[in-house]
Amino acid sequence: MGNANETPILSPEAVDALLGWYRSNARDLPWRHTRDPYRVWISEIMLQQTRVEAVKPYYARFLEAFPTVFDLAAAPEDRLLKLWEGLGYYSRARNLQKAAQMVVRDYGGEMPADETLLRSLPGIGDYTAGAIASIAFGLPVPAVDGNVLRVLSRAVGSRDDIADPAAKSRFRSSLRSVIPTDASAFTQSLIELGACVCVPNGDPKCAVCPLAPFCVANRDDLTAELPVKSSKKPRRIENLTVFIIRDGARTALRKRPPAGLLAGLYEYPNVRGHLSPHEVPAVIRTMGFAPLDVRRVEDAKHVFTHIEWHMIAYTVHVAPMSDGYHPPSGCYLVNAAERLSDYAIPSAFSAYTKYGTKEPNR
Ligand code: ADE
Ligand code: SF4
Repeated sequence: MGNANETPILSPEAVDALLGWYRSNARDLPWRHTRDPYRVWISEIMLQQTRVEAVKPYYARFLEAFPTVFDLAAAPEDRLLKLWEGLGYYSRARNLQKAAQMVVRDYGGEMPADETLLRSLPGIGDYTAGAIASIAFGLPVPAVDGNVLRVLSRAVGSRDDIADPAAKSRFRSSLRSVIPTDASAFTQSLIELGACVCVPNGDPKCAVCPLAPFCVANRDDLTAELPVKSSKKPRRIENLTVFIIRDGARTALRKRPPAGLLAGLYEYPNVRGHLSPHEVPAVIRTMGFAPLDVRRVEDAKHVFTHIEWHMIAYTVHVAPMSDGYHPPSGCYLVNAAERLSDYAIPSAFSAYTKYGTKEPNR
């Protein structure tokens, strides 16, 4: 693939058909009204692992809060994480800010119009560098994510394992030679085809696909077999016991460590393992509280990329603490009615926010 004397991955006719289709069928999405590299970048980061409909409100709020790369670079971390709350994969937000600070420091606040320089920024990999370079700057750079890999595997009838980075890199290099003048529309047309026509779940809509006349999977009836994707290793299961600790109107929160899973976000205090009710009071005391009443509430499960949390939980009523009390465990007591909404609590805990925010029973 990719050599000048080989068949191109998409013929000029196929590229034209794709661009023509995109011109009349592209969805009207907020980030398609701009070529501002900062905005394109934010949209591409948010769209990683996240559905378009889920991204829309976050994209609008984020750019209202941080209209320029300078605003993002200077944002307090808690505000940034609060704006990301519920979107998941929070390292994306922290990397965005680190990269924004580099863009301010090293490039005077202008995103570099260069694939390699973009690639060197935190959180920007091959795909995102290609997407910004092509969509915002119109550079002839491929942007190949899982959706584009699916489209291309089917179109050329490739049985390469798309979970293999080497396969991705072969597709990227073979795309380079077929990128037309309007690189921006080309990148987005492949993304759009993967999202709306050559879909990941269920049958692809070959009957309305502009690539149908050129597509090997369509011709040879291989759409159910392609792409080939090896399965990844199973997720690690972590059992947790979560405590919703209330002292009257206040709820205990704890800031997670600055690195690792959900870094820097706020959580209900929790420990590894599933604790039985009689084990709970001692643990609560080590956290610096005097437990009065412990009640088991419902279980919850949260699935991350490589880990699953299997949570059991207790609401724990504790003796009132003086204002400004900061137990050595690092917990904060936060006034549930007024202040809790200032803290970014990841959706992993969403089953339990109702216990943390509602008025106490007594
Ligand atoms: N997914 C990734 N990038 C996208 C874009 N620019 N538009 C729609 N969906 C996308
Ligand atoms: Fe995908 Fe069907 Fe289009 Fe081929 S013809 S690219 S399988 S939707």
